[in-house]
Amino acid sequence: MLVRVSLRCLKLADTLTSIGKAGLYSSMASMERNHNFFFRQLFDHESSTYTYLLGDTSNKEAVLIDPVYEHAERDANLIKELGFKLVYAMNTHMHADHITGTGKLKSLLPGTKSVIGKGSGALADIYLKDGDVVRFGSHQLWAAATPGHTNGCFTYISHEQCMAFTGDALLIRGCGRTDFQEGSSETLYKSVHDRIFTLPDHFILYPAHDYKGLTSTSVGEEKKYNPRLTKPLDEFVKIMEGLNLPYPKKIDESLPANRVCGVF
Ligand SMILES: [Fe+2]
Repeated sequence: MLVRVSLRCLKLADTLTSIGKAGLYSSMASMERNHNFFFRQLFDHESSTYTYLLGDTSNKEAVLIDPVYEHAERDANLIKELGFKLVYAMNTHMHADHITGTGKLKSLLPGTKSVIGKGSGALADIYLKDGDVVRFGSHQLWAAATPGHTNGCFTYISHEQCMAFTGDALLIRGCGRTDFQEGSSETLYKSVHDRIFTLPDHFILYPAHDYKGLTSTSVGEEKKYNPRLTKPLDEFVKIMEGLNLPYPKKIDESLPANRVCGVF
């Protein structure tokens, strides 16, 4: 049954140009987690960044989402120990608070390709556009453009596993700031409402950061409890304008390095 669902999803995905249409078949893909799907959440204390390792335990292909430069060795060792072959080191966007580990991982694990959204302004081997599908073994992630925090922000969705990696577009009970890079509160609001809140309520969401020790959330929870994104658009924009956040600590070193895949 699970195999049949995956094949049907793949067939449909090939014909779709927009991930927005994914909602049409999300319910049929909402099955139990496949026996050969590997998932691990990793953490960087300094920037409170989550990195996610996803793999196919049958053919051993894996992807890493939002790796951090200082933990590239840790991640490479874990991948080797578990016998995975890292096919893609992906970023949800060009980060301003830490340097990406993708460039370093490419040299630690030859054959790895770096992946980021088109429009991010960052160097990578593969540029994603809205609706693209990233495959590793028998699994796949749909790339949904969710700009607003930056122009090149993407959310990576696994319909088969009922999970999504939201980067900084949606954080647990919060969202990414919109006051630097190409930030736009209006655009972010639309992205979250059109592309993330339209997923089924039970989908588990994994953000790029959490500063309070929470590890994940769900679409249903955020639709109910997110203190910013449950508000009407005009109120949301006012909230974002009034945040008065400090200048990001590592932005001056992170952005130039991340423009070149973290290799500097
Ligand atoms: Fe960010």
